[in-house]
Amino acid sequence: MNIAVLTGAGISAESGLKTFRDSNGLWEGHDVMEVATPEGFERNPDLVLDFYNQRRKQLLEVRPNEAHKAIADLEKDHNVSVITQNVDDLHERAGSSKVVHLHGELLKVRSTGDRNDIIEWRTDLIVGDYCENKHQLRPHIVWFGEEVPMMEVAISIVEKADVIIIVGTSMQVYPAAGLIQYASEVAQLYFVDPNPSLHTSERILVFSEKATTGIPKVVAHLNMLN
Ligand code: APR
Repeated sequence: MNIAVLTGAGISAESGLKTFRDSNGLWEGHDVMEVATPEGFERNPDLVLDFYNQRRKQLLEVRPNEAHKAIADLEKDHNVSVITQNVDDLHERAGSSKVVHLHGELLKVRSTGDRNDIIEWRTDLIVGDYCENKHQLRPHIVWFGEEVPMMEVAISIVEKADVIIIVGTSMQVYPAAGLIQYASEVAQLYFVDPNPSLHTSERILVFSEKATTGIPKVVAHLNMLN
């Protein structure tokens, strides 16, 4: 089967990474408009780069959890594509081989001059770190107000999916939240989230629980379908 897995911050919560919308609009103590917009970066590049340096450090200290692993294991029997809103690399570290990052990747940086000039970078980034063409480097992250270049790829994965599993997302941020509109009419949909924004219907089976317990239930249900 073709399986598309759409994940948000909730899948990494049990690895120790905080979700976005459970802390009064603040993100590690910062207004998102300060640290996750191009305008914020222009106003205070030191603050923004330091914010991502801290997040990178935190990411390197955590590990994938059982939910990431269960999703990677689905590849033994199915053609699985993960579409994630997360900028962490926990799906890859768990063993998923096809991961589309809608909102960029924390462990990569790129030139502010040319968005295709992407470099792997695992340490700190500071003001004055330039690309070969002398442009400041920035995190390879899609900030609010910026284009989501991977959307086309994500849409085509969703259109072809027989099964769509949505995990740990508040479904509030577009265009990612609109992806399920592209699901085929016969696709089986699952949603795992302790505080789900969708209800069980003919189309979608909702498990109101954490990813590490909910994903194994989805897998058990899938095995029954086979
Ligand atoms: N397992 C599964 N889901 C969980 C868990 C868990 N252990 N803990 C929390 N959740 C759920 C919450 O109930 C919530 O629905 O994860 C969801 C997290 O929602 P958000 O914080 O809004 O994260 P997300 O949907 O990924 O946000 C989308 O917004 O800030 C931007 O670019 C950022 O990619 C992010 C986007």
